[in-house]
Amino acid sequence: MPKVADPKLAEKGRLAYEWASKHMPILVKSIDRLKDERPLHGIKTGFCLHVTKETSVLVMGARMLGADVSLCAANPLTTQDDVAAFLASQGIDVYAWRDESMDEYYSCIRSVLSNSPTTITDDGSDMHILYHKELKDKSNYTPLGGTEETTTGVIRLRALASEGKLAYPVIAVNNAYTKHLFDNRYGTGQSTIDGILRATSMLLAGKVVVVAGYGWVGKGIASRARGMGARVIVTEVDPIKALEAHMDGFAVMPMDEASRHADLVVTATGQINVVRQEHIKAMKDGVVLANAGHFDVEIDVRWLESSAREKRVVRDNLEEYIIDGKSIYLIGRGRIANLVAAEGHPPEVMALSFANQLLSIVYIVKSHDRFEKRVYGVPEEIDRQVAINALEAMKIRIDEPTEEQLEYARRWL
Ligand SMILES: NC(=O)c1ccc[n+]([C@@H]2O[C@H](COP(=O)([O-])OP(=O)(O)OC[C@H]3O[C@@H](n4cnc5c(N)ncnc54)[C@H](O)[C@@H]3O)[C@@H](O)[C@H]2O)c1
Repeated sequence: MPKVADPKLAEKGRLAYEWASKHMPILVKSIDRLKDERPLHGIKTGFCLHVTKETSVLVMGARMLGADVSLCAANPLTTQDDVAAFLASQGIDVYAWRDESMDEYYSCIRSVLSNSPTTITDDGSDMHILYHKELKDKSNYTPLGGTEETTTGVIRLRALASEGKLAYPVIAVNNAYTKHLFDNRYGTGQSTIDGILRATSMLLAGKVVVVAGYGWVGKGIASRARGMGARVIVTEVDPIKALEAHMDGFAVMPMDEASRHADLVVTATGQINVVRQEHIKAMKDGVVLANAGHFDVEIDVRWLESSAREKRVVRDNLEEYIIDGKSIYLIGRGRIANLVAAEGHPPEVMALSFANQLLSIVYIVKSHDRFEKRVYGVPEEIDRQVAINALEAMKIRIDEPTEEQLEYARRWL
């Protein structure tokens, strides 16, 4: 039996689904192309994704391709309850509601796994990892394969594979160009700023914004914050990324120094304890902290919790901690700010990511017996096809190389 917060929200969720579908023509086109063939007929697809309006288009699409779908959330705090209610009303096996306890969160993942999904599609790899911890050696059930949406999830799966423990092949959807170049950069860039503004309503112009990490997500946030008039400082541990940030025109310095200047700090590293007590103690009164990385480990929230003299909720998704007489504000309990305090990525960008997801699921179902138990990239033809579909949907035409140019590219002299 599906479990959602309030089934009465289904009609609102239907409108959200329809709105997202309208803005995801790239994904809708992929669904339409495969609908008659029904390549997922007889397949049980288990999804562990942020339950958003964009996700509803993906999972409804999987069902249109013939799959038997079950879904839980990839974060205890990111489910859009109206969307979950709509999906449940459509007969999708959904186990998700906003603000699950950690026990509830894992029990929802277990509920999906109890359906023995043929494929697992995850965001962050909590479902992949739970399968390996709890079912791999204790049951006869092995999925045919899986897909993974985000950087942190891919890193965890690669670690599992490097120890020879990965039980099935997984396609790293995150690594498709048509995923991370757009979703991680422009999607997270815009939606993280959106979450910060909804939570705080602060003016960014003239503020000092510290962005920790200059990977795809950090680049997007830094460029969007600069576009709104903020003075951006980047912190990094990778010398090449640091140099890139410098040449992109950002100030680069260690967090020890950056934290003293910050009005807003945004973490985007996928790493643990990037903003620690020594940094927070050095920060100005009124500083705002937000995390855009997958897990709530980038800011040392535990230290904030244990050290604050007082704590109170001052706005939706914004808590104030009083430390050494200063106010430190934390967005969304240090969880992924764009999904907790806003709606996640806009549908246009999720259409690219989820077209990759859907085509990769179909691909792994068709070709799983050719794969080893490893982490694979998205096949180049899928990545290119998604880009072609995207350009078509946006009515953008491009040139084709002439015969002479093709020949020129083959020459070495
Ligand atoms: N909020 C979202 O919707 C969303 C979307 C996509 C990815 N993500 C998550 O965001 C995180 C970053 O993803 P990405 O694709 O940008 O990864 P990435 O690997 O491209 O970038 C991470 C960067 O952080 C840097 N870094 C690592 N430790 C650091 C430290 N201690 N201080 C400063 N910099 C440090 C790395 O050198 C790297 O350049 C991951 O957890 C990913 O799963 C979130």
